[in-house]
Amino acid sequence: MLARTLPAPVFARRRRTLMDLMGANSVALLPAALEAPRNRDVYYPFRQDSDFYYLTGFPEPEAIAALIPGAEQEFLLFCRDRDPHMEIWHGRRAGPQGAKERYGADNAHPIAELDKILLPLLENRERVYYAIGYHPDFDEQVMSWINQTRAKARIGVQAPVTFIALEHLLHPMRRCKETEEIAVMRESARIACEAHCRAMQICRPGMMEYEIEAEFFHTFLRNGAGWSYPAIVAGGDNSCILHYTENNAELHDGDVLLIDAGAEVDGYASDITRTFPVNGRFSAEQRVIYELVLAAQKAAIDKVRPGCHFNEPHDAAVHVLTEGLIALGLLQGNVDEAIKAETYKQFYMHRTGHWLGMDVHDVGSYKTGEDWQVFAPGMVTTIEPGLYIPAGSQIADGCWAQLGIHLESDVDERWQRIGVRIEDDVLVTEGEPEVLTAGVPKEIDAIEALMRKTHG
Ligand code: GLY
Ligand code: MN
Ligand code: MN
Repeated sequence: MLARTLPAPVFARRRRTLMDLMGANSVALLPAALEAPRNRDVYYPFRQDSDFYYLTGFPEPEAIAALIPGAEQEFLLFCRDRDPHMEIWHGRRAGPQGAKERYGADNAHPIAELDKILLPLLENRERVYYAIGYHPDFDEQVMSWINQTRAKARIGVQAPVTFIALEHLLHPMRRCKETEEIAVMRESARIACEAHCRAMQICRPGMMEYEIEAEFFHTFLRNGAGWSYPAIVAGGDNSCILHYTENNAELHDGDVLLIDAGAEVDGYASDITRTFPVNGRFSAEQRVIYELVLAAQKAAIDKVRPGCHFNEPHDAAVHVLTEGLIALGLLQGNVDEAIKAETYKQFYMHRTGHWLGMDVHDVGSYKTGEDWQVFAPGMVTTIEPGLYIPAGSQIADGCWAQLGIHLESDVDERWQRIGVRIEDDVLVTEGEPEVLTAGVPKEIDAIEALMRKTHG
């Protein structure tokens, strides 16, 4: 993860908010992410745990944060001790002193002293908040502390009796972005837009998918960013594989190229998909499918408003897509029947969006009981409808099979090998939805104009 940009008071404010929600007599425990071995002596690039980072801004592995509302020292950090030998080989460490000075810990200790210092702090606390069930080793460690505390019952010590999933309090906080986070997300979006524009300008028949992928690495790194998920660079029929990441095929004249790629800045993701013709000119069929997806995307974005609920963009997109597919003869029946029978799913099999933030599929529930989450200012969702018509497609009998009528037939070849997804990141505001990723074109004329700049 690259340099931290959010100032320390942001993290302090979040801790205060969380601790006020937790109330007295409680403690929250958060572990840093684990380092993941890749192969002999080599590790995957370290990426901090999102919850841990959200509350601490502390970038190192082998650390635990404890939040104890009302205690004399409310925020404790346990972290790696300074070690000149290890720091020469592997890089600098904050150490407990740095944890206090730079990360706002009320006190900090070497991680080796964790048991000794934490155990007394659990005594006579009623509630423990942590990410129950996500990290098996940490679950075991917490239970071991609890059992050691229980063992002191006969000397009058009371062990915590209530264990609460921390996400219950923390993830609604993360779902609603603060002003400072929105600024970082705008930067993440800006960088990803720059990369997508560059890809449109550089693409030409005969290139390999990975050459286009390289443009994303180039742009992200030049801007001090990383990637938020492995890029999908999918030409021709590969555009119909939703999570295609091989990125090793040649790009052919006459094919579409679907690119789903986003940047990560200071832990915040962008997530953009654009689809365009490899040769810079949409064919008649590509144009029809593309315009249909674009209309569905616009209808969905229009529902990203306070008062609308999370499923309204999906419903809007499905309606436009289904109507269009029926008009093209790719689905049968009337719109309501086809939506009810979900026949559109043979060409549109995923949902229209997800929360976006520190995690590309960000935290925060989508439903409470039977009710969808209602949008409120500060929430960020992707809007990403698509249509996918791979080679060898058939029009399945869908809803008509229920009536005993069999309609399965080949999809006309001219529609095949066209996968289109258009994905933007949309901020809910008091007024109009704000598309954070408007910096990369999605109108056909604008895409073709941008591509012409290097196509002569
Ligand atoms: N890039 C993953 C997604 O769009 O959900
Ligand atoms: Mn997405
Ligand atoms: Mn995406």
